[in-house]
Amino acid sequence: MKVAIIGGTGKMGIALGVELSTINDVIIGSRDAARGRAAAARIKGAEGMDYHGASNAADIVIFAIPYRAIGSVAELADDVSGKLLISLINPMEAEGGLLRYSAQGTSAAEELAGTLRGGRVATAFNNVPAGFFGKDATPQVDVLVAADTKETYEEAAALVRQVRGMRPLYAGPLFQARIVESITPLVLNLAKLNGTGSLTTRFVTKRG
Ligand SMILES: NC(=O)c1ccc[n+]([C@@H]2O[C@H](COP(=O)([O-])OP(=O)(O)OC[C@H]3O[C@@H](n4cnc5c(N)ncnc54)[C@H](OP(=O)(O)O)[C@@H]3O)[C@@H](O)[C@H]2O)c1
Repeated sequence: MKVAIIGGTGKMGIALGVELSTINDVIIGSRDAARGRAAAARIKGAEGMDYHGASNAADIVIFAIPYRAIGSVAELADDVSGKLLISLINPMEAEGGLLRYSAQGTSAAEELAGTLRGGRVATAFNNVPAGFFGKDATPQVDVLVAADTKETYEEAAALVRQVRGMRPLYAGPLFQARIVESITPLVLNLAKLNGTGSLTTRFVTKRG
């Protein structure tokens, strides 16, 4: 598959790009094509392009941009039509030394779906810090995937399963994305308040 990462020059985009490049053709999308090419040079076999080029060339488009930039994706509507779109965007604001979920009555994933109506949107990797990717990372992470249809979930889940140590769990329709996304400020606050070091999601079942 050709997988584009919009905002792939950031910490999360590079970490995910390295993982996905073992199976897919990765395209790093940047507002500046030259910056995209420079970042892609850090990932074996990856290409760098501007957002339009990357979205247009890909089968799957991952959005790894800050929430404040979400309005800028509207111009990609034609490029991403008919494709699987993965949102790992977390709306967060600093407040009193902690982080607060900042989307008002919606979520980044629902906003993306509303803007890019031709695409099939799913959440994935929202709660997984970049440091959990890679060969030295802790395995066994549960990746929460919200999507409006089970078919879209299955497509996104197949991508999640390509990343070592990660198990997809279906979180229900996209309206659940606000809960999925809001786990990120929660775990970041938990790590800070309790001095645990970086945390992510893993659900356990009762023994026996
Ligand atoms: N970092 C993590 O561990 C992590 C984990 C899970 C989820 N996430 C989520 O993934 C997203 C990206 O996280 P990140 O830490 O990789 O973010 P980041 O470094 O702040 O941003 C990623 C990229 O977004 C692009 N971008 C587009 N519009 C922008 C704007 N107005 N201002 C700044 N950058 C803009 C930039 O690339 P170009 O300028 O090259 O276009 C930038 O390199 C966020 O929504 C975050 O909540 C992050």
